[in-house]
Parts: sequence; C-alpha cells; structure tokens
Amino acid sequence: MQNLLDFLKDKTEIAVKKLFGEKILEGHPEIFSDITQATQEKFGHYQCNSSLKLAKLLKKNPRQIAEELKEQFLADGGCFESVEIAGPGFINLTLSNDFLESEINSQLQDSRLGVAKVKKDRVVVEFSSPNIAKELHVGHLRSTIIGESLARLMEFLGHDVLRLNHVGDWGTQFGMLIAYLKKFHEDVLEGNEDAELSELMHWYKESKKLFDEDSVFKASAQREVVDLQAHSPVSLKAWKKICEISRKAFHEIYDLLDVSLQERGESFYNPMLPEIVSDLEKKQLIVEDQGARCVFLEGFEGKEGKPLPVIVQKSDGGYNYSTTDLAALRQRAQEEAAQRVIYVVDAGQSLHFQMIYATAEKAGFYDPMVTKPEHVAFGVVLGSDGKKFKTRSGETEKLIDLLKKAVKKAKAILEERLPDLAGAELEEAAQTLGIDAVKYADLSCHRLKDYVFSYDRMLKFEGNTAAFLLYAYVRINSIEKKSDKSIKELLKTEKIKLNNPTEMSLAVHLRRFGESLEVVDRELLPNRLSDYLYHLAEKFHAFFRDCQVVGSKEENSRLLLCELTRKILKKGLYILGLKTLEKM
Ligand code: ARG
Repeated sequence: MQNLLDFLKDKTEIAVKKLFGEKILEGHPEIFSDITQATQEKFGHYQCNSSLKLAKLLKKNPRQIAEELKEQFLADGGCFESVEIAGPGFINLTLSNDFLESEINSQLQDSRLGVAKVKKDRVVVEFSSPNIAKELHVGHLRSTIIGESLARLMEFLGHDVLRLNHVGDWGTQFGMLIAYLKKFHEDVLEGNEDAELSELMHWYKESKKLFDEDSVFKASAQREVVDLQAHSPVSLKAWKKICEISRKAFHEIYDLLDVSLQERGESFYNPMLPEIVSDLEKKQLIVEDQGARCVFLEGFEGKEGKPLPVIVQKSDGGYNYSTTDLAALRQRAQEEAAQRVIYVVDAGQSLHFQMIYATAEKAGFYDPMVTKPEHVAFGVVLGSDGKKFKTRSGETEKLIDLLKKAVKKAKAILEERLPDLAGAELEEAAQTLGIDAVKYADLSCHRLKDYVFSYDRMLKFEGNTAAFLLYAYVRINSIEKKSDKSIKELLKTEKIKLNNPTEMSLAVHLRRFGESLEVVDRELLPNRLSDYLYHLAEKFHAFFRDCQVVGSKEENSRLLLCELTRKILKKGLYILGLKTLEKM
C-alpha cells in the first residue's frame, strides 16, 4: 500500500499540472512534494505548502493559488472531509471518514500492515564491533542495540542488508598475549584447558606489565608479532584460540540481546592493506612524515591549525586502524556493491570517519554518486552521578553483569505483580522485560545525546518506557480474549467503522506506521519509531477509555481496530528489537 503522504503528493502533482500545465513541475519537484503531517490534530491531518512555492515561481498571490488548489482537491472525489486555507496560503487537509475507513480496512488485510516496500538498496550495517581479549562495555551495548534495530528496520522495508561485526581482532597487542600464553598457559593454547574472557583480559594486563619490565619478554612478544604477520601456523593457531575465547563471551551477550550478525573482523582486510597504501601512493596522496606514511587532506586541522594526518603505515611498516577502515570501505563499495554503508560507532570517532570517507573518496575507493557512507554516531551512557557509566569498583561496568542485573530487577517486579507466575515462565518473562527495558531506554532517546542509565526509570510502567508499551500490548490481548468472538472469523466477514473521534485519531495514527518507518530509514534515528509507538499506545488508551469494546454494539469493528493496533505494536516493537509478553 502507498503511504498517505505519497498519495497526497500524487494528488497535489495532478492538481498543479492541471492548473498550471504539465511543464510547471519540471526541475521543481519540491513544489508538489511539500506536504507534511499536520502539527496539531485541530489543523486536520496533512498540510500542503505548495502554494507558497508556486507563488514565488509564478509571481502570483499565494492565497489565490491556494484557492485554486483547494477547488481541485475538493473536485477530486471524496477523500477530503475539508480543505481549508490558513495563514499566507497553507492548505489544511482533513481526510474523510469514508476514505479513512477504506484505508484502514485495506491496511488490516495487508500482510505488510500498509507499509510499502521502499527502493531496494544493498545496505551494509556495521555494528557492535568489540575488541578481542577485551570485555564489551556499555559503548558497545549502544552500538549493538541501535545497529540491530536499524538492520531490522531496513530488512522490513525491503533492503538487502548485510550485518557486519567489525571486530578488533588484529594488532600488535596479540604478540604480547601470545608470548605470555606460550610462557604460562601452554595448555590453553593447546586446547587442553578452557579459559574465560575475564582470564584472558587478566593475562592481557599481565603481559603488558611484563612487556614494559622485562626486555627478554619484550623481545619475544615482538617476535610473535612478526611471526603472526608472517602467518606462521603456530602463531595463527594461538591467535585463533584467543579469538575463540572472546567470541564465546560476545555470543553470550548477543544471545541474551537477541542480536544476530556476521563476524568480519579487521583481520579480514589484512591482505588488502599493502594495495591500499600503494594505491594511495599512485594517486600521489602519500606524504612521509617522520617515517610514517600519511595522507593530509584539506579541511582537517588539529590544534593551532596544524594539518591532521590519516596515518596509513607506521615507520615500522605496520598498518593502522585507518588503513583497515579504508580497505573495508573500498571492499564494501566495490565487492559488496553497497549503496549505503552504515557505521554504528560512538560519536568520539566522528572525525576518524570523516577523514576515512574523505580519503577514500579522493582515492577513488568508492563513488559518492553510488555509495553513501553514513556514520550513525551516538553519545555516552552516564551513571546517576552524571559521569561516564562505571561500577562501584571504578571499573567500567561489564556488559553481561549489567544485563543480568536488569533481568533480576524485572523478575522482582513481575513476582510482585503476578504472584502466580513461576518457574521457566517467570524466568522468560523477566528476561523479556529486563532486556526490553534496557534496549528501549537506549533507543527512545535521541542517539546523539548522552543518557543516564537508571534501572528504576527504565523499568517504570508509566511514561515512555518498554513496560508501558508492553502493557498496552498485554491489554489488547486480554480484550481480545475477553470477547467470545474469533478475530480470525471477524477478519473474513467484518469491517472497521470509525464513529468516535478517538477511533478516528487512532486510525490515522495506525495508517501512518509506514511514514514513520520511512523517516527512520532516512534519518537513522530509532527514537522516531519509539515516539510513534508511544503515541500509538496513548491513542489506544484514549480510544479504550472512550469506547467500550466487548459487549458494545460496535464490538466487531472495535475488536478489529484493536487487532490492527496489536499487530502494529508488535511489529514496531520487533523492529526496535523488543519481544512482547503475554501477561504482566
Ligand atoms: N573496535 C572499535 C572499538 O571498539 C570499533 C570499530 C568501529 N568500526 C570501524 N569500522 N572502525 O572502538
């Protein structure tokens, strides 16, 4: 189904052409596309601003043009209840009851819930991207939650999505770690003994200490780096073992978060790095600076106007984080044929990405007319003290502990509300509520802002929270159960009728589901969808307050309106990455 917004744009285009000739819109697509949702319900449903732009183009009075457009809208069938001119020439459009009824009934029967498939792009969504031998932290949590949601959204809209985990799995730190394990934990490397990520991190710290203190160890660590880079089988085996231990810990978190993504770590791009540097060299973009090979670009300056380099090869011949990112962008543009490459990475790396995009463009690694790299940046998570989120011991909170704590708190709440719930059912419900709460708290604030992490706030049942939305969903389910009618049968025989203003208001909002998803697709802001769902729940509650469902003479129609609300709520929550509950 087409969005109402697109439907009205088409109508405006027809009206404009009819009034001012076919040619008028050539080169001025903005004229007919200037339609927005009304800012307040009292102004109607949509607002058309084309007359003001046409007036400029035709050097005519905008109100006069608005009058002419109004005539066309009114002459064009019965989809409008009223068309009114306001201010300097805005046109307020109010859709008619009949029209909305037919729209909402088509949406109810549509397997895509009225959401049109948009143009199918090949989209790479890179998210999560933790580092091997290090614990995931809350910064990675944000990337994981936001990335999963954007990937789900794009998949639903019909894009061809490749989800990638750009794991930090290569670098000189592996030399220290391998040397250390060879010396003290041969059994782990041999696979005769299991190890946890926390142990690995401990060994990593120890190996660093040793590296600084012990020159013999230092030399052995440096030898390991050389061996690993030369792909010696023994070193590769040790490296793989280290990655495997880390991966196990990452997947425990991904499972809990219901996240799926394909690991394609930095090491994947290793074979491409020499060519990246030689290509940059050929394009004469490389400048040597104290032995390191750098690219300097106009517009990137540090303190006191000093030009900032992208260092692509260090003086010891090693490659950098940036070199890998250049290779990754080129590979995604050229081999993956991506039209969009989305990087869900903290805002602290914004400058890095700007420099990567600019360098890659200059080097011809991607064509900006074909591929669009987009940095989906986000702010930091704060503790209640307003400082960067830390646990009491001062260590950055371990992600798995933080998630488990949310589940535990959710369990306590559910036990109090539903004393009958127990066993596996309780555990499952607690996991859903706890994880949903964490995810929603993150997604519902504008991602560029920092937010304060608070279990109490995220688990509240009032306000813009996961619990509030889940509760609306549970409520609809129980209404449907309370009625002795079968929704399945009603869907075959009955239709939604809109009689009450709160029914109308709910219906218009339901019909705008696709419009709100398209906004997220464009702006990559999941909070636009959470806002939509929050308003949906509010509108549902208003409808339910004003309109009796079970036992009323409009029961059939109202049950169907409940059903459409239920489906859209469920799909919207799914896109955010949330599961629903049956009871709460
Ligand atoms: N591993 C990095 C970190 O933990 C994030 C990687 C971001 N992605 C990229 N293509 N550079 O900070």
